[in-house]
Amino acid sequence: MSSPRPAIEWLADAVLYQIYPQSFADSDGDGIGDFAGVEARLDHLEWLGVNTVWFNPCFASPFDDAGYDVADYLRVAPRYGTNEDLTRLTEAAGRRGIRVLLDLVAGHTSDQHPWFKASANDPADQRFIWADTDQAPEGFVASPGTRPGFYQPNFFESQPALNFGHARMDPAEPWRVPVDAEGPRANRQALRDIMDHWLGLGLSGFRVDMAASLVKDDPEHAETAKLWRELRGWLDRTHPGAALLSEWGDPQISVPAGFHADFFLQFGPRGDGLPLRSLWNNWEGTVSEPWEPLQPYFGATGEGTFSLFHDAWREATEIIGDAGFISLPTANHDFSRLSTGPRTAEQLPAAFAFQLTWPTLPAIYYGDEIGMRYVPGTPTREGSRLGPRYDRAGSRTPMQWDDSPNAGFSTAPAEDLYLPLDPDPDRPTVAAQRADEGSLLHLVRRLIALRKATPELGPKSSTEVLNEGYPLVYVRGGRFLVVVNPRAASAEATAPAGPAGAVEAAGVTVTDGVIRAEGFGYGIFDLGAR
Ligand code: GLC
Repeated sequence: MSSPRPAIEWLADAVLYQIYPQSFADSDGDGIGDFAGVEARLDHLEWLGVNTVWFNPCFASPFDDAGYDVADYLRVAPRYGTNEDLTRLTEAAGRRGIRVLLDLVAGHTSDQHPWFKASANDPADQRFIWADTDQAPEGFVASPGTRPGFYQPNFFESQPALNFGHARMDPAEPWRVPVDAEGPRANRQALRDIMDHWLGLGLSGFRVDMAASLVKDDPEHAETAKLWRELRGWLDRTHPGAALLSEWGDPQISVPAGFHADFFLQFGPRGDGLPLRSLWNNWEGTVSEPWEPLQPYFGATGEGTFSLFHDAWREATEIIGDAGFISLPTANHDFSRLSTGPRTAEQLPAAFAFQLTWPTLPAIYYGDEIGMRYVPGTPTREGSRLGPRYDRAGSRTPMQWDDSPNAGFSTAPAEDLYLPLDPDPDRPTVAAQRADEGSLLHLVRRLIALRKATPELGPKSSTEVLNEGYPLVYVRGGRFLVVVNPRAASAEATAPAGPAGAVEAAGVTVTDGVIRAEGFGYGIFDLGAR
């Protein structure tokens, strides 16, 4: 589905859903998810009401980093199907009003990519960053080819950095080239070719991996921003409906640099990812090594501080203006799910009530809509472990569809699954929650529908925070009062004058000018046109 509607417009109504393709739905019984599996599950996405899906990289790859090591940007990995399967899925999704975005790994390839193999055997090639020295400069890796010297990786050693040039020259590093040298120019053109290829097949845009990493030694990311602005200009001329979302973690820099939206992430220059971490992060799950005594605002003990998020959001929003959006994910493939450590299922509704009524673009990580948990002790697979206490596998386990074998994810023997399922006999499933109107799944669905039907709850309507302790109280679009109490203890606050009709509420009442919120309560109230 290629939409003539500019991305900046359709994104305003977007509810994003992230699919980890390995773990969503397996149609051919090999234990790994695939496009036909996703296509067969489009009913779920349509019923839920999400309208924009982004896939983690699904391209040909040796899978040293779960596909973030791309060996061919123009061909999908056979384990997911064919390019035609992806096109068919995209069309089928489009018929249901769902756009599909891919992951563009812009900063590096796999060491198995033909560009890198050629470069490792051609001393004149500049598409990667090579130091022609006898000793490896710090972080560089020995050439695997006939070319002498060392290359610079971007993440794992098997992910050589594409050369987009250095912003500054340095006599001590004579291999640096400027951003407009031949190699960097070829790489910039390659990004256009890749985008053009997939957009031409009906894809709606990209989430760009490590978007800040392109130009090296780049103070304030000025040259990297220039590169993306140039690409965005080209995109607006050639594919105006296409969206560019960044994995940058700093929207006030990345949106002015040309992205339509950027995610608040578990990392980022503003307080080391503080805006997101101050909401969700309880140091259980992906990163289990506390580097500071931070308590999340969404924590039962009620020791968190909403203003850490609020201030960062306000600052970024003022700088961004109408140029784009901030996206707020429930989790992602690198970060713990909402359901992790001491955070129990009863705490999740309040988190979604907040996420789906706050003026950020909501991004739901697959399975979070039923409260799938981060599964401790999940075995390492395809580079999932980043350190002794940094383990991403527990956020990547198979989607839990029903109570058939393998939770309906796959017909493969259990030991052949990409990752084992959550072994908890009480693990949540889509089928059980669909049958229960009181479930998290039904709530998330109603909140999405409410958001889509209510312009006041969208990202461009006003937000007035009335109380930022516990409970959190805010008014959207001058009309909808939202109350969220993420702690176990009850809490009270003053209500705005006048009647307040409950639109969606559990454990919150508004009477006689007083808001009373039970532990983990939430409510959305219509104050009427004022
Ligand atoms: C991004 C991805 C992560 C990957 C890394 C290297 O941070 O989200 O999963 O390992 O980039 O590509």
